[in-house]
Amino acid sequence: MNRYLKLLFAIIFTACILAYSNLFQFHGYCNSENLNSENSTSSEFSKNLKLPQKVALENSLEICRGDNLKQCIPPLMKYKQLYRTSKPNNLVACVIEKTFSTFLTAIMCFLHDQKSFRESNRTLESDIYGERLCKDKNEFTELKKIEKWQKMSIFAVVRNPVDRFVSGFTDKCLREKVWRKYKSRCASCRTNLTCFVDKMYDRMMKFAKNPYKGIDFDDSHFFPQSW
Ligand SMILES: *[C@@H]1O[C@H](CO)[C@@H](O)[C@H](O)[C@H]1NC(C)=O
Ligand SMILES: *[C@@H]1O[C@H](CO)[C@@H](O)[C@H](O)[C@H]1NC(C)=O
Ligand SMILES: *[C@@H]1O[C@H](CO)[C@@H](O)[C@H](O)[C@H]1NC(C)=O
Repeated sequence: MNRYLKLLFAIIFTACILAYSNLFQFHGYCNSENLNSENSTSSEFSKNLKLPQKVALENSLEICRGDNLKQCIPPLMKYKQLYRTSKPNNLVACVIEKTFSTFLTAIMCFLHDQKSFRESNRTLESDIYGERLCKDKNEFTELKKIEKWQKMSIFAVVRNPVDRFVSGFTDKCLREKVWRKYKSRCASCRTNLTCFVDKMYDRMMKFAKNPYKGIDFDDSHFFPQSW
């Protein structure tokens, strides 16, 4: 009986290993084949990239493992916090920059005080950040300053991190060219993406090792959403 049980376990175990390795080989974790079939635009994109694919795949599985962990920024860090509340709805929104933040701020303002919002003749689109109606009214930088926050529903909107990065770089550094007015923005790299990625990663490492005060424009737009 025992032997049959052992055999059964051995078969199940082997089957699991096979299924697992097939999953990785053919269905692609970090595999660009999926991308290719999905959309002709992205297939052209990966052709143009000319990555040494096998090497890239192997390395990507090594990233942030074992000794390589030291080269990576940690997934969670205590970072600046922005909350917008709506008392009538028992809601707290955690606002993350470059992730629907202006619109969410407007929505939370509307939910905070519908009457004033309507009377001000604003719409959710027109309640732009610099002139927002609820400035300092439903806004907090610490959870514990919100009365009865334990009884409220807290939520955050997150975005695909690559989308967020591309959107931020395109919007601020390529289109708006914020570095024209403020030299140090976009990490003083103007439109140079290579330079920007390198410098921002260094900045993240620096912050992770020794969290500093005075988080600047680049930091708040490009530091990870999980911080
Ligand atoms: C591929 O991506 C483009 C650009 O985002 C989109 O317009 C198009 O509909 C996509 N094609 C397919 C087949 O999903
Ligand atoms: C909003 O619009 C109404 C009607 O056009 C107007 O009477 C009122 O003065 C406006 N309120 C503000 C705050 O602009
Ligand atoms: C962009 O930045 C990288 C790294 O800092 C540098 O090697 C490269 O020459 C720069 N490219 C241009 C066009 O300035």
